[in-house]
Amino acid sequence: MKLRVKLLIALSALSLTFSLVMVAERTLGLRQAMLERTQDRTDYLSDFISEMSSHYLKTGNTQRLKEILQSFDRFKYISYLQVTDAKGAVIYKMTESGLKMNGKSRDPDVFHPGDEVFDTGREIVADGEVVGEVRLGVSVVGVDEAAANLAWRGTLIGVIFTAFITLAAWALSIKLGKELNWLLDLAENVNSEKLPELPSGALGTDTGSIARTLKTLHGRLREEEGRRKESDAMKNDFFEMTVHDLKQPVTALKASLDLLLNEDDRRSYDKRQIESLSSIARSSLALLTKMISDVLNTAKLNNPQYQPERERIDLQTFLNGCAPENEASVAAAGKRWEYAVSPDLAGCWIFGDADLIRRVVGNLVLNAIQYTPEGGKIKLGARLRDADRVSIYVSDEGEGIPDTFRQEIFKKYSTMSRSPRNLGLGLAFCKLAADRHAAFLDVKSEPGRGTEISFVVPVYCPAARAGGRKGEK
Ligand SMILES: Nc1ncnc2c1ncn2[C@@H]1O[C@H](COP(=O)(O)OP(=O)(O)OP(=O)(O)O)[C@@H](O)[C@H]1O
Ligand SMILES: [Mg+2]
Repeated sequence: MKLRVKLLIALSALSLTFSLVMVAERTLGLRQAMLERTQDRTDYLSDFISEMSSHYLKTGNTQRLKEILQSFDRFKYISYLQVTDAKGAVIYKMTESGLKMNGKSRDPDVFHPGDEVFDTGREIVADGEVVGEVRLGVSVVGVDEAAANLAWRGTLIGVIFTAFITLAAWALSIKLGKELNWLLDLAENVNSEKLPELPSGALGTDTGSIARTLKTLHGRLREEEGRRKESDAMKNDFFEMTVHDLKQPVTALKASLDLLLNEDDRRSYDKRQIESLSSIARSSLALLTKMISDVLNTAKLNNPQYQPERERIDLQTFLNGCAPENEASVAAAGKRWEYAVSPDLAGCWIFGDADLIRRVVGNLVLNAIQYTPEGGKIKLGARLRDADRVSIYVSDEGEGIPDTFRQEIFKKYSTMSRSPRNLGLGLAFCKLAADRHAAFLDVKSEPGRGTEISFVVPVYCPAARAGGRKGEK
């Protein structure tokens, strides 16, 4: 049996039981209240008749008493009324047809279940003497009839209520069942290309919000899938591009080596030609080395398992060590060089991997060289940015970075260079290295006027701290 049907049967049974219990409780309560009221009324009437009879029996006016007692005939609920004198002679007697008065052996004034009347008896007392007796019976048949009527109507209402509840629950369960099927359909297809269409406005509040969540999830999964495909495509492109780019220096290297190593060819070359071929071989080899190490360095930093060195680096000593190699490259490229470390950095140190930071500086200088025209000035320097951070900067007087490209420069393989030397990995590598040093790269660039890129890293200056943070700016 389906869960839905089981739930409906349980709900109907529960609703019916609840209705019947309520009806029984109400009926019994009302019956009891009606009985109590009847008893009160009977007691009151007996007392009244007894008082009244006392007066007429004392004066001996039994005729008038009879007349008055006859007027009680019109009260339908009185089953019997009898007044006797002290000797037991009947002065007045009225009984409803079919009812036997004094037919029971039970005490008067006590109602027993199953009794049809409340039977009360009162002595008639005048001047301290018993002068007669009143016997009054009031019917309770109406009470039971009324209670039975109430029970019957209550049960009918309970059955109608249960039927209504069951029908409403049935309709709701059919709707819910449909909605759950739609949701199931959505959930099963959440990873597929397209989600099944839902009938518009068909879902309730809760199921609707689950459906919306599933749709959002589907959207995210599609985006994720799109990014994965894009990244796969990029990796493939990059692989093809790199292989293609590597071909150029490899071909040049092979050609120059072939010529240099061929005995006959070598003999026909003069000294200048041999030097030129050797230089081609050397620069091709250098280019190959750069390209391979760019790829490897970026891949290495990208690996979360890779842990860079963490050593204390004296800032001035470190920069003084970096400067000459970069100066040589700048000079070789025909650009002017300037090197300036702010004097308040004396004794300051940073924490990290000196080799990685040296390569960051090298990359920034290489970019400056590459994007600065002949004769332009390139500057390497360091200055305190605030009390706890130092900017190691490289500035140039080059073409600047176009605003539209500013967001892209740290992305891997994004380059504006047309040269096969440039894979677009330099700044991506710098960014990864910065991330590993709680540092960041700050770019200031004005198209046509130049660029300054700073590696902003936490610094510790003992002297500045001891002297009230003299270095703070
Ligand atoms: N100093 C700079 N002046 C002008 N543009 C720059 C400068 N530095 C970087 N860029 C721009 O940012 C881009 C990305 O630089 P990045 O160093 O990552 O790659 P690349 O220099 O093109 O190639 P690679 O560094 O892999 O040889 C460059 O192509 C260039 O357009
Ligand atoms: Mg570069």
